[in-house]
Formats: sequence, structure tokens, C-alpha cells
Amino acid sequence: MAPKSFLLTEQLATYLLDHSAPLDPIERSLIATTAELGGVAGMQIAPEQGRFMGLLASLLGARTALEIGTFTGYSALQLVRGMGPGSTLTCLDVSEEWTSIGRAHWERAGISDQIELLLGPALSSLETLPADQRFDLIFIDADKPNYLAYYEAVVPRLNQGGVLLVDNVLWHGQITDPSDTSEHTVAIRHFNDHVAADPRTESTILPIGDGLTMVRLARS
Ligand SMILES: C[S@@+](CC[C@H](N)C(=O)[O-])C[C@H]1O[C@@H](n2cnc3c(N)ncnc32)[C@H](O)[C@@H]1O
Repeated sequence: MAPKSFLLTEQLATYLLDHSAPLDPIERSLIATTAELGGVAGMQIAPEQGRFMGLLASLLGARTALEIGTFTGYSALQLVRGMGPGSTLTCLDVSEEWTSIGRAHWERAGISDQIELLLGPALSSLETLPADQRFDLIFIDADKPNYLAYYEAVVPRLNQGGVLLVDNVLWHGQITDPSDTSEHTVAIRHFNDHVAADPRTESTILPIGDGLTMVRLARS
């Protein structure tokens, strides 16, 4: 079948944003402050992906979420706003510097009391969570070589009816280039194969942003 999706041009990306809920001053400030960091700003999810994730959180009626890879807090802002008042988000990241930008904006948005930020390697932080703690929504967006380990750690923590999202699974299109054998590309390829073959879950890859996998527990 011929593909129906295509890469977004700058014009289409602008059009798409112009026809979505407008970014508010806090979102604009967070995007601008992140841009001042230089090239690393490319790690921030795209605004249209943020809108999608916020809407999904709302549609799911999610009350609890877990994020692995918070950076400057943009995706966290979208998730908490989507879930609404009284919901909680646990954020895992290694960077005090980057997450401090997030903290300042969460404060301005009035959602900082809904977010628990655990600084340190995410695999270690995950081990500190109560063994029976589960989440309605989980977002993986940290170091790619650990994707598989994160997946294995969080699938048992997903509530029935909940959703796990995983970012960058098309890896700028490098995923289908057989000559690319770099560590990150190989790790994501291995991860995608693993998820597609996992009988515990149902999943699909959405061509949003850099590729977003959406997973739920298989219906029994
Ligand atoms: C792609 S960025 C996350 C972007 C963020 N979700 C957003 O939309 O702005 C990846 C983040 O993972 C963090 N990270 C990298 N290795 C990590 C590890 N082993 N444990 C926890 N966080 C890690 C980095 O510090 C970085 O902030």
C-alpha cells in the first residue's frame, strides 16, 4: 500500500499549529528559554505532539502519569495540563540544570505541586518507586540505549486501560537505513522489534514528531 503520511514541511507545520489550540505565554516562554540552550533544544517534543499528548491524557481520564526523560519540562506541562487538577506526574531525569527550567515554568503554570521530580539515572529511580505503584499514562523519552530496559520496567506498572508512549522510534528516518549501525539506531531498532512481538501488549507507531509508539496492555 502506498504511504499516506509524509514529512511535514515548515509551511505545513506552521499551518498545523495555526489550526490547533494556540500556545499560551508559559508554553511560548518555555519553548523560547529552551531554544536559548542551543542544539540540545531539539530534544524538546514538537508543540503538535505536546497538544496530542495533552489531549490523550484528557481523553483517557488519566490521573497518574510517569515520564522518563523530562529535559526542560515541556512534555510534563502538557501531560499535567491534560490530566487536570488533582492529577500527579512523576518525572525522572538526570539533569538538575535542564529540569530547573521546567520547575520554574511549572511554578508559573500553577502545577508544580502535582509533579514529583526524581533526579538520577532513571533505572535507579524506577527501583525506588513503590513496587505496586501503577500509572494511567507513561511516557518514555530518555536515553535510547536504555529504551528496552525502561519498557520492561514500566509495562508491569501500566494500569489496565492505560497507555504507554515512546518517543523517537523512527529516529529521523534512520531506522530503515541498513548502513546505519550506530548505537542509538540499533537500540531503537531492537526496541521496536521487541515491542511489535510482545504478546503482553498491543501497539502502533504513529508518524507524529520523530515517531511515537503507543502501547496498551493486550485485552485478555
Ligand atoms: C529527549 S530529552 C526529553 C525531552 C522532554 N520529554 C521534552 O519534551 O522536553 C531526554 C532527557 O533524558 C534525560 N536522560 C538521559 N539519560 C538519562 C538517564 N539515564 N536517566 C534519566 N534521564 C536521562 C536527559 O537529561 C534529557 O533531559
